Amino acid sequence: MTDHSLTKPAMLPAFALALVIGAFLSTGTAHAQSAAAEGQKLAFDRSKGNCLTCHVIKGGNLPGSIGPELIDIKSKYPNRADLVAIVHDETERNPLTVMPPFGRNRILTPKEIEAVVDFLQTL
Ligand code: HEC
Repeated sequence: MTDHSLTKPAMLPAFALALVIGAFLSTGTAHAQSAAAEGQKLAFDRSKGNCLTCHVIKGGNLPGSIGPELIDIKSKYPNRADLVAIVHDETERNPLTVMPPFGRNRILTPKEIEAVVDFLQTL
């Protein structure tokens, strides 16, 4: 027979730690989800991001096709800063783009851009 009396108490702190980490992770996820939902609203709002005018986006109605479909964005742009830069001012990357510089023109606030990027990372 194996004596578990030594290993069991040692497991307790690890279990408690796992609970704390789990609670922390789930609030983190809940936060990211609400930010992404807010970002989706801004992206689809015709007087805000109005992204559907040019982009096919999952969950959006009546999209245009001037820009590329926004799909697999997180794998295409793993670096969050690249996405912020694109939404802030795509003319920095492509001077001839028709995509409006949402940050430079203050169509979206920096906070709104962060929420839109949270949403883009779910695509
Ligand atoms: C007037 C049309 C137009 C609007 C509105 C628009 N875009 Fe774009 N977008 C483009 C075009 C065109 C491109 C292609 C790249 C370029 O022109 O430099 C692009 C590229 C992108 C890319 C890079 C996609 C890839 O696969 O590389 C992202 C991300 C993006 N747009 C996000 C957005 C978001 C988010 C919004 C709304 C806040 C938005 N766009 C609104 C036209 C638009």
